[in-house]
Amino acid sequence: MPRTRIYENTAAPWWRTAVVYQVYIRSFADGNGDGIGDIAGLRARLPYLRELGVDAVWINPWYPSPMADGGYDVADYRSIDPSFGTLSEAEEMIAEAHGLGVRVVLDIVPNHTSNQHNWFLEALEAPPGSPERDRYVFRDGRGPDGSSPPNDWRSRFGGRAWTRVTEPDGTPGQWYLHLFAAEQPDLNWASREVRAEFESILRFWFDRGVDGFRVDVAHGLIKHPDLPDVGLPEDALFDQERHRANHPHWDQDDVHEIYRSWRKIADTYAGDRLFVAEAHVAEDRLPLYVRQDELHTAFNFSFLKAAWDHEELRAVIDQSVTSLAEVGAPPTWVLSNHDVPRHVTRYGRKITHTREHDVDGGPADLELGLRRARAAALLMLALPGGAYMYQGDELGLNEVEDLPEEALRDPTWERSAHTVRGRDGCRVPLPWSGSDSPFGFGPRGSKPWLPQPAEWEALTAQTQSGTPGSTLELYRSALRLRQEQPGFVSETLRWLDAPRGVLAFERSPVLRCVANLSDKPFALPRNWGVLLTSDRLTGGQLPPDTTAWLWGGGAARRA
Ligand code: GLC
Ligand code: CA
Repeated sequence: MPRTRIYENTAAPWWRTAVVYQVYIRSFADGNGDGIGDIAGLRARLPYLRELGVDAVWINPWYPSPMADGGYDVADYRSIDPSFGTLSEAEEMIAEAHGLGVRVVLDIVPNHTSNQHNWFLEALEAPPGSPERDRYVFRDGRGPDGSSPPNDWRSRFGGRAWTRVTEPDGTPGQWYLHLFAAEQPDLNWASREVRAEFESILRFWFDRGVDGFRVDVAHGLIKHPDLPDVGLPEDALFDQERHRANHPHWDQDDVHEIYRSWRKIADTYAGDRLFVAEAHVAEDRLPLYVRQDELHTAFNFSFLKAAWDHEELRAVIDQSVTSLAEVGAPPTWVLSNHDVPRHVTRYGRKITHTREHDVDGGPADLELGLRRARAAALLMLALPGGAYMYQGDELGLNEVEDLPEEALRDPTWERSAHTVRGRDGCRVPLPWSGSDSPFGFGPRGSKPWLPQPAEWEALTAQTQSGTPGSTLELYRSALRLRQEQPGFVSETLRWLDAPRGVLAFERSPVLRCVANLSDKPFALPRNWGVLLTSDRLTGGQLPPDTTAWLWGGGAARRA
């Protein structure tokens, strides 16, 4: 496999400072016109990603799947879903990306399989107590006839986390656990066979040259062996207790043993392979996942969830930088992904902090939201550590909040009895070019799997490319500067004195970032050169909701 490495001469592993671009493959680019993004589409757009300046792509699950949860219900971990392409296309894509200096990170889904995975089909055919059932979490129900679920656990998508099966002889039988949709049975990680299988899956893809894995639901694999009740009311739709200490199925201590064994495997491969954890845990528990012999990095979701507020952001940044430094891991910043409303929309609201798609923060002012999103991007990209961007961030896309109900695909919509619309609004296919749908997402006349808003005509990559001041050009400049400026290499930051509402910090050597979250303009120091600003300065003043990068090392260089 051709592997052209860039950055060969830098000392630190690439992932400590990488900007990783998340490809939600279903919605990225559609090569064959069936309305679904695919590997062919991604290959055609690799030059775009290279030009953007990202270090790597993380591709959401592309394995064979009935798509009950957008591919997070995996039926076969060693192959590609036919709607996305073939394994050989995947191998070619990996080689092409490497040839362009872009690394490839896949999504591994170890908490659950699809209910169409062979193992689960075998478990349904096998009797209670069999080795086939032991790969999952099957239990007898409660009550004299076993008709009540084994405990009170709730699915993250709403409703109970247990489904009762019909035994092969036709009688009502055991229950199986699914912390997500019923089509996503949880694996039993106490089973040696489950552990060995995932180690083999990791090797399968590492052998094909992938540079790392994003670990889905990394905090969920181990359940308390007694499966005790959480203590939820009978009628609770969701588990609101999920970040509490000693939760019976999140963030159990024994999960770390799994990651120690995964790290050993990654370390046997050449070229700095990476794991990044999706772990929704209390802030002080996150560093445990990235100790030296465990996963390399973990998304910082407190940054994503924080309000557009200087105090909150500063506290989150400090907490993250300090606590991760104790274990020697770099912070990993993120503003949006395929599970949360896009930050242009979040920041356009009165209530800017975001927990989930079920929080109604009122109507969004998208102009304000975009302004803040651009400022947030420069703030994030100036912080020490790595950063993830979600496809379309670079175009300033908003959440699509008016998808027709019949278009909604997120299992949350059904499981919440049509009370929570779910995550489809951030998964709308990208607008690449042209003046109407499919906006270059697929060939002319094709129909994207979710409808695109007509207003996205103004936000296509084609329209923004080469347009001074566009969000796409802002990202391109920012990513280029990140690679050129030595100041971005340091792993620490020093806060500078600034008026209330202004976040100002310095990275050494001599790089400064000033984000104005106040409602007054802020006069920038005159002796510093301006490298880049998220919006125009007004007479040397940094307007509200604007971020500037400054350079103090001699002659100023402008992007
Ligand atoms: C993660 C994914 C999300 C998925 C869930 C279940 O949270 O990001 O999209 O629904 O895991 O696999
Ligand atoms: Ca397609």
